[in-house]
This record gives sequence, structure tokens and C-alpha cells, in this order.
Amino acid sequence: MPKYWYNIAADLPKAPPPVLHPGTLQPVGPDDLAPLFPMELILQEVSTEREIEIPEPVREIYRLWRPSPLFRAHRLEKALGTPAKIFYKYEGVSPAGSHKPNTAVPQAFYNAQAGTRRLTTETGAGQWGTSLSFAGQLFGLEVLVFQVRVSYDQKPYRRAVMETYGARCLPSPSTETEYGRRVLAQRPDHPGSLGIAISEAVELAAQRDDTKYALGSVLNHVLLHQTVIGLEAMEQLQMADAWPDVIVGATGGGSNFAGIAFPFIGHGLRGGARPRVVAVEPAACPSLTRGKYAYDFGDTAHLTPLTKMHTLGSTFTPPPFHAGGLRYHGMAPLVSHLKELGLIEAVAYTQTQCFEAGVLFARSEGIVPAPEANHAVKGAIDEALRCKREGRSETILFNLCGHGHFDMAAYQKYFAGELKDETYDERELAMALAGLPSVPEPV
Ligand SMILES: Cc1ncc(COP(=O)(O)O)c(C=O)c1O
Repeated sequence: MPKYWYNIAADLPKAPPPVLHPGTLQPVGPDDLAPLFPMELILQEVSTEREIEIPEPVREIYRLWRPSPLFRAHRLEKALGTPAKIFYKYEGVSPAGSHKPNTAVPQAFYNAQAGTRRLTTETGAGQWGTSLSFAGQLFGLEVLVFQVRVSYDQKPYRRAVMETYGARCLPSPSTETEYGRRVLAQRPDHPGSLGIAISEAVELAAQRDDTKYALGSVLNHVLLHQTVIGLEAMEQLQMADAWPDVIVGATGGGSNFAGIAFPFIGHGLRGGARPRVVAVEPAACPSLTRGKYAYDFGDTAHLTPLTKMHTLGSTFTPPPFHAGGLRYHGMAPLVSHLKELGLIEAVAYTQTQCFEAGVLFARSEGIVPAPEANHAVKGAIDEALRCKREGRSETILFNLCGHGHFDMAAYQKYFAGELKDETYDERELAMALAGLPSVPEPV
């Protein structure tokens, strides 16, 4: 198990654009972020050190499920008739069932160390809310989770797990915050979005000194914590005498993708082999393939700083498709920056294409993937089929970021032929993009 997290900021050929204060349009400093995050996490957010030590109490908890297994998907290869070798890292072995505890645990640790008593957060699929509930409990923190309404209704047992870990979980938009009440007044049946849930969590965190906010993706420190995935995979692949030609990950806010890919990209930037790296996103919320690379807010109420990222516009509400964790309007600034530098590629697939891939995976490898993870499965299968067409035996590595045990209603709908390929409203996208804040390009 790694002793350090890997920080890709140390190896980038060009620094990413600064995060800006929305009032002054000047770069934010640590003090601007202090109402929301403990200083250790803020320092990680801006660090350019290549390696950041994982504190021993965090490693001790990681040991409950880490190192996570790396599998060779022999049966999937056979089912596809591909000469490619497919490896996958399985993050569904964590207590929450996904990669999210990799960052929930250090975030809870640094908050507890700084004297925080309560954490607020958002959750889409419920994976992140579950993870922070678990981590908060271990460090004696109260946790309040705003779960996106559509996912709260689709997956009632996620709330039960959060409550089992001692957290409180509310559907978002909620009546608990001023912003939630405003959204509900306009549209009482609003399905919610991650952008709205973030606004609610940030609003409450900013009101009380003993309360901080925790984000499950997007930010640099979250991506940093997830690099344990790729660092472990490097060692495990070496044991199998293998190295990836292609790396595939699903992208919502970008954290599990960064987790598996950044250590390999960094290795390439330092002169090592450079694998192709493919980000897979949902066609119904395609920030990397259809979004604009521009400064935007991370939330819908515009309470956060401005970051330059691929965005569909902070007011964009994606249709209620089943990969709740991928329904975010923006992409991590670091992932967006790598896309701009040409160091990664991106593709988008519809939800039925992804479920079809997930079912083939379950029938050959035995694990039922989360709908989010099905995007990576689909991406890896398409790469393996390309290898078959081209007669190449490339090595493909993908991140199976979570299991789908709480998503069986979605699978049932898929088998009943009721799952539709939801598309977003082009007019709504145009309106959301037209509403992007105007930020002068630095000269
Ligand atoms: C299983 C799973 N995968 C992926 C994601 C998307 O987040 P990220 O892109 O940060 O990995 C989520 C988010 O909730 C998730 O639950």
C-alpha cells in the first residue's frame, strides 16, 4: 500500500489556470477557502510537491480494504474474442462500495484534527454520502448529506446506509436551506442536481464556525487522495509483468479517473512510457466532449470560487438518467487542463450502451458494476474490440470504480426494456452556456 499520494501538479508541462474569487476576479488565496475547508486540505489543493505523505491514521483505515484487487478479465477477453489483455482495478471492495472512501477518510481526518465538529456535503449516486458518513463516524464528526432528489427516490437504501453510519440525509433541493427553498418555490418537483446539492451544503457550512464542507470530487486534493488507486495498480501490474497501453476511467467530476490515470500520466511526463488515456462520460451530461472550457462556478447558487474547466454551465440540469454520480455540469480543473494539453481523450456513451456492457461484464467476470462504472466497462470493451479489428494485443487497464448492489432497480428497468436513452435539452444547454460568467482572459 502506498505511503504517499501522487500530485500531478509537480510534473505538468504548464500550470493550470488559477482559481478566481468571483467578486474580485483575482486568484483566491488560502484564507478565502478557510471558511469551507481545514488548512491542511487547502495546502494540498495548492501544493506542487510531487509526493504527499498519507498520515498513519488514514493508512490504518485504508487497510480495511486496501490494497484493492487488480484482476485480469480473462473471461471477458474470451467473450469478446479479443487479443487484448484487459486488467481492472476493483474499488467496490471498500465499505461504501466504491472509490469514494479513499478521500472521505483523509478529509474527515484533517477536519477532525482542525477541530471541525460537523461536515456538510452533497451526494449524487449516494456513494460519496455513504463514504463521508462512514469516515465521519470513525473520527467523531456529525455528517449532513444533501442527496440529489432523483437519486434519493431511486435508491432509498443508500439513505438507510448513511443513517446506519450515523449521518442525516436530506433530499435536495430541500427546505433546510434558503437556496433549496428558492429552487422549490420555482419548481416543486425539481429532480435536483449535484450543482444544487453543493449549493445547499456550502450555504450551511459557511454559516457556522464548527461546520466545514466536504466535496467528493473535482478539487485537486480529492484527485490527489484517489491516486492510491493508480499507485497500487502500477505495483500490481509490475508483479504481472504488464504495463498499460490504454487506461480507461468513467468521469463524473473526474476523481476515480484521475486516481487510476494520474500516476501513469506523471510517469509518462517524467520520461516513461505514455499510455493513451480515455475518459468516458455519459452522453446525457457530456462536459468533456460537449462543454466549453471556461471559467464557471462549481455550484448552481454561485457560492463557490470560479474555476476554469469543461462545463455545461452551472445552471444546466441533466436529465434523470441512472448514473447519478456522473450528473455534474463541470469537470475537475486538472482533468480539463490535461484534456486541453492533449494528454487525455474523451468519449461519451448513452446509458443503454453502458448497461449492455455492464451486463456482459457481470456475466463474464461475476461483479455487477455501478451504472457509473459501466461507462468505464463500455470504454474498455470498445478498446478491446478495436484491438480485435486491428489484430493488436494491447494491454488495457480500467477502473471498476464501484459495485451496483444499490442500483438493481436500474438493472431491472434495463431488462424490462424501460430504460430510455435520456437526452438533454439543447436549448437548456445553450441557455446555461450563455449564462457563463464573463471573465477576461489573462494576457
Ligand atoms: C461509483 C461511482 N463512480 C464514479 C462517480 C463519479 O465521480 P468521479 O468522477 O469523481 O469519480 C461516482 C460519484 O458519485 C460514483 O459513485
